[in-house]
Amino acid sequence: MDNQDELLPIVDEEGKTIGKMTRGEAHDGSKQLHPVVHLQLFNGKGEIYLQKRPLWKPIQPGKWDTACGGHVGYGESTDEALEREVSEELGIDVRSVGARFVTKYVFESKVERELVYVFKAVWDGDVKPSNDELDGGRFFKVEELKEEECTPNFWQEFFGKIMKTYSIYFSGTGNTKKVVKAIAKGIDSNAEDVNWTDPATRSIEHKFQSGDMVVFGVPTIAGRVPNVLLKSFVNIEGNGAKAVAVVTYGNRAYDDSLLELARLLKGRGFRVVGGAAFPAEHSFSRTLGAGRPDSEDLLQAAEFGRRVVAEIADDEPEIFRTDRELKPYFQPKDRDGNPINILKVKPVLDAGRCVECGRCVRACPMGSIDKKTMEVTGICIKCCACVKGCPEGAWSFADAGFLYHKGELEYLYGDRKEIEFYI
Ligand SMILES: Cc1cc2nc3c(=O)[nH]c(=O)nc-3n(C[C@H](O)[C@H](O)[C@H](O)COP(=O)(O)O)c2cc1C
Ligand code: SF4
Ligand code: SF4
Repeated sequence: MDNQDELLPIVDEEGKTIGKMTRGEAHDGSKQLHPVVHLQLFNGKGEIYLQKRPLWKPIQPGKWDTACGGHVGYGESTDEALEREVSEELGIDVRSVGARFVTKYVFESKVERELVYVFKAVWDGDVKPSNDELDGGRFFKVEELKEEECTPNFWQEFFGKIMKTYSIYFSGTGNTKKVVKAIAKGIDSNAEDVNWTDPATRSIEHKFQSGDMVVFGVPTIAGRVPNVLLKSFVNIEGNGAKAVAVVTYGNRAYDDSLLELARLLKGRGFRVVGGAAFPAEHSFSRTLGAGRPDSEDLLQAAEFGRRVVAEIADDEPEIFRTDRELKPYFQPKDRDGNPINILKVKPVLDAGRCVECGRCVRACPMGSIDKKTMEVTGICIKCCACVKGCPEGAWSFADAGFLYHKGELEYLYGDRKEIEFYI
């Protein structure tokens, strides 16, 4: 049984000790803030360990709870408290687990206010739950977790703080960004943004962890993942994190972009657990897929995010389970069936309209617009970030082959396409 006379520190929200009280006083409804440590324990398969609270505990008896948690004693550090609790409750030496501090937050219930220090660790060794303190414990797949069987504290902490969600997107004209952010928000309203449109961000290493969820989106370019991105994938490491692969496409077809993205993510150590292809306004056009993703599309995106959490499977969706060769890049053709080559085509500037706001220079995902001369000096992927983003309409494409292709796309692919989801 807990010793109600045991002394606990009273702390401020920064964690500074400002007094002391007994354990009984900490739970008497006076809600004096006191620190606790939690360990969220994963195994290498991404499963999470939960302990079962014994029926004699006055709070949340019989519910599944965070692997290990306990009060920090008066005069004790959080590291010392974690070491003690992990050893007592799980029979593990926390130093061999390599626990990492994740975050701290204030948890409030009817009877108490806790300053929770959250740690996370991955452990494939034995766990020996204490017979005195716990009613056993085991590893769960995330999709097995059920809100009514877990403590609310665990539920909030796991889905709000531990299962960190990221939205990563490459998005010249913003379609992919909108979709990816809406899905990620459906998973976790605090999802962190990684904007891969910015060349500097693409060159930074991003290392994820088991328990993270990454919604990763790119536009379809010539039926595939934009090939200028391929070399940047070496900068991301999945380390067993889950990923949802998302592509947008300009109402023609996404061909093999989604399959290629899923393969790239798997190749970087992600477990791809979902996929989606969203029709959107074509970069080249203002009429093809005009206005999409619209508000209805974004509602569906958020709903998909919620489904990913609720139904999440460890297996990858069926459509990704193929090792067939990817189709070649889509090749535009002229009316006689000859290939139109737009690789070298670049937008032209009407300098008379330019008010030198610098927006296009910052928006170009290839960093190809020279700030001084306003010339396109580097690679142009025809993303149209400059064309659609210039408030003065100073950029446009004049190449005859490009304009023919644009017109043909608008003529041939005007029908409304539906979003496709894969779980
Ligand atoms: C060079 C280029 C090639 C494209 N190829 C295709 C394609 O093969 N199929 C398609 O439906 N849309 C294609 N698109 C349209 C984009 O996939 C679509 O507009 C996308 O939503 C743009 O996303 P963003 O706004 O995030 O940049 C292409 C766009 C560009 C710039
Ligand atoms: S966005 Fe338009 S107005 Fe602004 S610098 Fe670029 S071309 Fe000039
Ligand atoms: S210059 Fe080319 S790559 Fe850069 S924003 Fe304009 S269309 Fe996109």
